[in-house]
Amino acid sequence: MTDKLLPDAAGLARAVELLRGGLLVAFATETVYGLGGDATDGRAVAAIFAAKGRPQFNPLICHYPDAASAFAHVAATPAALALAGAFWPGPLTLVLRRRTGCPVALLAAAGLETLAVRVPAHPDALALLRAVARPVAAPSANRSGAVSPTTAAHVLAGLAGRIDAVLDSGPCPVGVESTVLDLTGPRPVLLRPGGVTREAIAAVIGAVDSGAPPAAAPRSPGLLASHYAPALPVRLAARAAGADEALLAFGPPPGGARAVFQLSESGDLAEAAANLFAGLRALDESGRRLGLRGIAVMPVPDSGLGLAINDRLQRAAAPRD
Ligand code: TXA
Ligand code: MG
Repeated sequence: MTDKLLPDAAGLARAVELLRGGLLVAFATETVYGLGGDATDGRAVAAIFAAKGRPQFNPLICHYPDAASAFAHVAATPAALALAGAFWPGPLTLVLRRRTGCPVALLAAAGLETLAVRVPAHPDALALLRAVARPVAAPSANRSGAVSPTTAAHVLAGLAGRIDAVLDSGPCPVGVESTVLDLTGPRPVLLRPGGVTREAIAAVIGAVDSGAPPAAAPRSPGLLASHYAPALPVRLAARAAGADEALLAFGPPPGGARAVFQLSESGDLAEAAANLFAGLRALDESGRRLGLRGIAVMPVPDSGLGLAINDRLQRAAAPRD
């Protein structure tokens, strides 16, 4: 049984009790819902992998209520301090070296010497993290390879009965996952584009390399080719939907499609990001119900948040195993 909790005093207290007891609670962040477990408890971390059906080589992000508690577990660098000052709380994840004595279970980082840390900008997440007073490991709260959840209903659609509770804080405002930036090498490397744009990061620390990790050993599993995939095949850069396709629209849609989801009528990238995963889910459902055979996606400009949106869309459209 998965309890649905409200983010009031009683619901938060229950979520804290469950997490401190080694159980799993999904909670909202500003990006997507996370599937949280006590990061210092190897068994809780193992339960996260089991609930998701996630390949074990995927390291998880640890969530903290503030920069000071994060930097107690990983070694800050000047760039990390500058970025934390600029973007935390917010949708930026920093990969840094673990400090000696870091209590985070090795399994949470899939055995790596490094750890991904972030301070989410969601009042309920921050209240929860403060009260738990332990790092909370939380991948997106979906089955491995599926579309990330931006509502509690999405979480339950994939994980009901597999996790202990979901804290329902309503829809997530940003809608795409955090930007993952590796600060452990000689130059900063963007491992996953996300809610904080590359341009915004560059304005604080200068040029950022794009990560093109070897396909055999992805450093960021968001980089696995087919990820975020709906059941229906996805076709990108579509001018119009075919007779048997649903349409994911960005800006005024061409007529004719039997199922249309509008990411942003006015072409606003932040609005489109917030709607992206809900749109893919909605078209996957209505499209299959109507007997359609695919999802056509109108082009989204490749700048700012569009980079993160197109990254997720390309993964949704990638050939499946
Ligand atoms: O917005 C988000 O980041 C959401 C919310 C819940 O915070 N979380 C999320 O987690 O998207 P997940 O597990 O789905 O993605 C974590 C990303 C992966 O691409 C993973 O490879 C990368 O972070 N990552 C984690 N630890 C890492 C490490 N030590 N080195 C390199 N990449 C790491
Ligand atoms: Mg994910």
